[in-house]
Amino acid sequence: MKMSPSVLLLGALIVFSASLAVGVILPAYTMNITSSKEWRNRTEIEEIGRTIYIANGCTGCHSQYVRTLDWGIGAQRIARIGDYVGEAPHLLGSERTGPDLSQQGGEHPDDWHVAHFINPRFTSPESIMPPFAFLKKAGRMKPLIAYVQSLGGKDADFRIERQQRWKKEAVAAYEAGPDANIKWLHSHVPGPWMELPNPYAATPASLARGHKIYQSFCIGCHGPIGDGQGPAAPSIYPPPLNFTTLRRTGVSGGALYYQIMNGITGTAMPYFKKHLESEKIWDVGNYVAQYFIGVVDSNKEPRGIDASYEGPLHKE
Ligand code: HEC
Ligand code: HEC
Repeated sequence: MKMSPSVLLLGALIVFSASLAVGVILPAYTMNITSSKEWRNRTEIEEIGRTIYIANGCTGCHSQYVRTLDWGIGAQRIARIGDYVGEAPHLLGSERTGPDLSQQGGEHPDDWHVAHFINPRFTSPESIMPPFAFLKKAGRMKPLIAYVQSLGGKDADFRIERQQRWKKEAVAAYEAGPDANIKWLHSHVPGPWMELPNPYAATPASLARGHKIYQSFCIGCHGPIGDGQGPAAPSIYPPPLNFTTLRRTGVSGGALYYQIMNGITGTAMPYFKKHLESEKIWDVGNYVAQYFIGVVDSNKEPRGIDASYEGPLHKE
């Protein structure tokens, strides 16, 4: 056959329609999508929240799918086709400027989200997410939070139920006064951690690193002087801990580490085990202990074998 513009065009059309038929039309009519066991219908308010999510361009920075290769970034569960029944339009997204939100429900309690949406810098000081305080005035923040808390379906419901259960206890402990609150907080720290001193010497370098980490992760809630009066505080209940309430009882470096690592579910205190390497948690613990609590238990001998990168341990 002689190649002419019309033959070329015909050929292109045949290739295009064949791939359309095989890649799009055939699957659309033959795929039998059954919902996964975590899937559930959204409630009315969650559905409204979804439209607010779409209208505000959240998909521009947040994906809603987790791939097998994401096990390496701490995924909880890999997305399955049955998780997306009835999603039209789907909100998979392709950008991950912010974290994936497909399992966001119950990760934080509602009060954390209120503070975060008013201004993400309140809870996450170095965030580049834009503030959405205007949604509060328009009465749109509540449905948006309901939607975000539904992400993950029945797994999200399980986590939300756990948040609410612990919140009741945390509020009761907070309202019983500072001593009862500290007692409650520490009753959930396993014994060996309560006894463990901070194994990192509170050297000027450790404290300087701790200061930087505190500014990058903690200052919006616990405040620049550790009194719990950061800008997030008005939205959060029980409020961020005032570290000076620990002055009388004192607290081990191990207990601080445990709380920072795991967070306190039911309160806005997030876990930092995915964000901060172990040394950073010890460093920020030294910083909080030295400057806000006034009781530092690090620098204890014997220290074991020093890490290979450590220079001479100059102490404060
Ligand atoms: C310019 C990009 C950007 C946009 C737009 C954006 N975010 Fe974010 N988002 C981020 C970044 C970065 C983070 C991580 C830092 C933080 O916690 O703020 C984040 C964090 C979050 C988190 C907390 C995740 C976690 O587990 O800590 C939620 C929830 C969230 N965003 C929801 C939204 C919603 C809902 C919208 C739309 C109303 C939105 N974001 C719009 C960038 C963005
Ligand atoms: C979004 C707000 C928020 C952020 C961010 C935050 N905290 Fe907290 N923190 C809290 C709340 C709320 C509590 C618990 C208050 C209560 O139940 O009385 C708490 C409790 C704690 C405790 C428990 C103390 C104890 O003796 O049991 C420690 C330690 C702590 N925070 C350290 C930190 C450090 C270090 C950072 C930064 C790496 C940080 N927090 C970031 C809100 C926050």
